[in-house]
Amino acid sequence: MSKHYKIATVPGDGTGPEVTVEAVKVLNTVASKYNFSVELQDYDIGGDRYLETGEILPDSVLEEFRQFDAILLGAIGHPDVKPGILEKGILLRTRFELDQYINLRPVKLFPGVETPLKDKGPEHIDYVVVRENTGDVYAGAGGVTMKGTPHEAAVQTGVYTRHQVDRALKYAFEYTRKRNKRNTLALCGKTNVMTYLYDLWERAFHEMGEAEYPEIRRDYYHVDATCMWMVKNPEWFDVIVTGNMFGDIITDLGAVTQGGMGIAAGGNINPEGVSMFEPIGGSAPKYTGQGVINPLAAVCSAQMMLDILGETEAAKDIEAAVMDVTANKLKGLGAGKMGYSTSEVGDLIADRVS
Ligand code: IPM
Ligand code: MN
Repeated sequence: MSKHYKIATVPGDGTGPEVTVEAVKVLNTVASKYNFSVELQDYDIGGDRYLETGEILPDSVLEEFRQFDAILLGAIGHPDVKPGILEKGILLRTRFELDQYINLRPVKLFPGVETPLKDKGPEHIDYVVVRENTGDVYAGAGGVTMKGTPHEAAVQTGVYTRHQVDRALKYAFEYTRKRNKRNTLALCGKTNVMTYLYDLWERAFHEMGEAEYPEIRRDYYHVDATCMWMVKNPEWFDVIVTGNMFGDIITDLGAVTQGGMGIAAGGNINPEGVSMFEPIGGSAPKYTGQGVINPLAAVCSAQMMLDILGETEAAKDIEAAVMDVTANKLKGLGAGKMGYSTSEVGDLIADRVS
């Protein structure tokens, strides 16, 4: 029997809707080829709805999200809304409430794509960051006192439980084993300064690795050194696991080494629940409606979604199509620099997979 997937789409703000259309185009094309079906339901949450109604993410929508197989997000962020409101209210809230405790961010340089790293090519830049997605300074612990006075004091505490750390590590070790590339998992931390938080991570990392994954090589890097090696010797990396804040930072660096925000995709994953897939780049308001934005990050998010849903052949096919198009068609990845419009790029991918 062919599989049927119920997908919630949240096109969101700015160029989000334009790139989501292209991701859906590709999704529908592979669905017919690989004999599964997708049923999409669109949600209009985002900046415009907030400005019109004051609603950010209604509880009822969040409850509905739980009924889907996955969520496909375009972009969140509106120039007329104060930064933080939508990000916290939609993106972070969904991650937390649906307990999407992994943020999976591949850093892969596709053929034909320019990288700012000198003398590096696709053979050097191909690793995956497993970012823990629920804890750390994102947990919201802290506060402020004497606000607005010269004595204002602000505290924001990183919080990790052993449970959170263990489940993230487990995912990372399993992922490394399944990927079976260099069988190396690197922990990115800061054990020399964050002697509570990353001490917990480091002990848990070695305990689990030794007991359950003896065939996986374990490396450790401080976060500052990680940044250096990501630029200097990216080929050292296979899978990197890290906390939420460091993961946020190093994946932007990773994204720029793989050609920028036009191509970088991520998945907010609850391995036991509903996951949400999104291009890492923002809503790029200045390009809205011009048909110049690169949809490949959104296409790659849909590809990751299919992979996680178990449609691995379809996912591989999309990746091959993206690689073919970056290698042989596109002039560049930046908005307006592709040599094709947003929808033409979607067509190129769809034609290649059909
Ligand atoms: C990301 C973003 C978010 C984060 C922001 C928008 C809250 O930077 O997905 O990387 O910090 O996680
Ligand atoms: Mn970020």
